[in-house]
Amino acid sequence: MEKVVVSIGGSILIPGDGDSSYIRELSQMLRSAVGDRCLMVVCGGGRISRYYSETGRALGGSTEQLDRMGIMITRVNAALLRVALGDIAVDGAPDTVEEAAGMCAEGRIVVMGGTVPGHTTDAVATMLAREVGASKVINATAVDAVYSEDPKLNPDAERYSELTVSQLAELVYSQHDAGNSSVFDPKGVRIATEESIDILIVSGRDLDDLEAAITDRPVKGTVVRS
Ligand code: UTP
Repeated sequence: MEKVVVSIGGSILIPGDGDSSYIRELSQMLRSAVGDRCLMVVCGGGRISRYYSETGRALGGSTEQLDRMGIMITRVNAALLRVALGDIAVDGAPDTVEEAAGMCAEGRIVVMGGTVPGHTTDAVATMLAREVGASKVINATAVDAVYSEDPKLNPDAERYSELTVSQLAELVYSQHDAGNSSVFDPKGVRIATEESIDILIVSGRDLDDLEAAITDRPVKGTVVRS
């Protein structure tokens, strides 16, 4: 049974406008794409986790306290996606990648959020791929591909259709300033390098491209080869 891991950014899942229509369409696509695979979806925290993190920081919270609030929000987002998926979702909310791996079943979808403090859900998705022996992680994100710089800040930024994982590593380390999350968690990039896991970066708003990534068809986004 093929196991496919998708990391879906919280800002994609719940941008705060028309969320139920998007989540419904996403669920329908996942339902039709699953086939005889086991899909494993890791949900991010988005705007709501950022709210708790910023407010908690202003109140003097420690990094661990802020991370723990973030994890709770990612898990609520996972619960929301499970609601939309209905009976195709495996019943249960895994707290660890080991637990999620044990829940995998043919033609079903396992949904989880974060695990422990110290990383983001991109890293969780890569750890999950390592745990289940998946050859790729799909990152459904707010950009449609990896760029040399933030394309919103520099419209002339170069768009990459293919990168090696070491080229991605160089980009994420140079782009990772405080409060400005990079296109993929550096810890996830490190694990992908060590475990030879490919990373496919696609727009979470382009459900055709996300489906192409899941079903092994060519993508419009960036393929990062390990
Ligand atoms: P996200 O994965 O959504 O982080 O988790 P992010 O930085 O907002 O990621 P992008 O930009 O959407 O890709 C939200 C927060 O929850 C905590 C971290 O503080 C993270 O920033 N978290 C999440 C953990 O500490 N551990 C986890 O396993 C997951």
